[in-house]
Amino acid sequence: ESYDMAGHDTYMHKEICEQPDAVDRVLRGRIDDRFATVHLGGLGIDAREARGVRRVKILGCGSAYHAGQIGAQMIEELARIPADAEPASEFRYRNPVVDPDTLYIAVSQSGETYDTLAAVQELKRKGARVLGVVNVVGSAIARETDGGVYVHAGPEVCVVSTKCFTNTAVAFALLALHLGRVRDLSVADGRRIIEGLRRLPEQIAEILNGEDEIKRLAARYADAKSMMFVGRVRGYPVAREASLKLKEVSYVHAEAYPASELKHGPLALIEPEVPSVAIIPDDELLEKNRATLEEIKARSGRILAVGHRVHEIADDTVVVPRNEPELDPILLGVPLQLLAYHAALALGRDIDKPRNLAKSVTVE
Ligand code: AGP
Repeated sequence: ESYDMAGHDTYMHKEICEQPDAVDRVLRGRIDDRFATVHLGGLGIDAREARGVRRVKILGCGSAYHAGQIGAQMIEELARIPADAEPASEFRYRNPVVDPDTLYIAVSQSGETYDTLAAVQELKRKGARVLGVVNVVGSAIARETDGGVYVHAGPEVCVVSTKCFTNTAVAFALLALHLGRVRDLSVADGRRIIEGLRRLPEQIAEILNGEDEIKRLAARYADAKSMMFVGRVRGYPVAREASLKLKEVSYVHAEAYPASELKHGPLALIEPEVPSVAIIPDDELLEKNRATLEEIKARSGRILAVGHRVHEIADDTVVVPRNEPELDPILLGVPLQLLAYHAALALGRDIDKPRNLAKSVTVE
């Protein structure tokens, strides 16, 4: 991959389309079929140390933070270690309690984001162990951390992150699998996740093949006054990232909420001019999510559902291929990148350089 536009009109489109290859790259050479695990050479933590981790705290900003939220869920699910993500910008200002048994992970595409770097430096000063999940090799955060996992998304030029977000989520799946397999994740589950990871590049290509349909949908939703993105648990960080993406590149106002929180306030916003995008995978929360679609419909809200089957109650559905439930967020986010892209295109926005934004925020 290079800086060449390779026939695309924008870097954002090019980078969305590069995802099958990018995901292939983050997996390459890391899977160990014999032990149903992965090798992450740069981690610098042996099995005994990995078993000693009592908690994981993930820090990043913007899309990196959202990818960290997906990562935290994967680590909890696969390794059964309590994990959460927090904006690095908040963490560094609240005099955090730094715990020696917590593994801290800084996430960044550029590796130069000032708030994330400052959080790493504060953690190091307090004697914490900090890993990086970083794209740019040799960047400041990569250098300051004790070890980590490179994301190998290749150069990302568009201000709006797409392929790096996806690759970061995959990198977290690898880390979660690794931590799981030195703890209590079974060989069978390890194999199941590995097979799921191997299916990702082809499945992303399948989603990208549906671009014409997503373009048609984007034209219908781009005139929205505002958009509501909702999801539960695995779908929630996907909703947050999709909402951020739409805002950044199309300037359409959007909100993201856990589906379960709608009734605690945001339902008041639902009207025909405020459509909802519902992330609704076929997982154990399907019935709960269906109830959310009904709540929205009862308030005359238009619904675009993104899931594994067509939902009759929704006005439109984007169906994504099935994978293992733990890996769902990786695939569910991809069509929403295309939705943001085509909404921005329909509105004539400056896609690669949205107003007021910089690719990396290296100042306080
Ligand atoms: C992504 O679309 C954004 N431009 C932004 O949120 C970005 O993810 C954030 O500034 C963090 O950047 P980093 O990954 O380079 O640290």
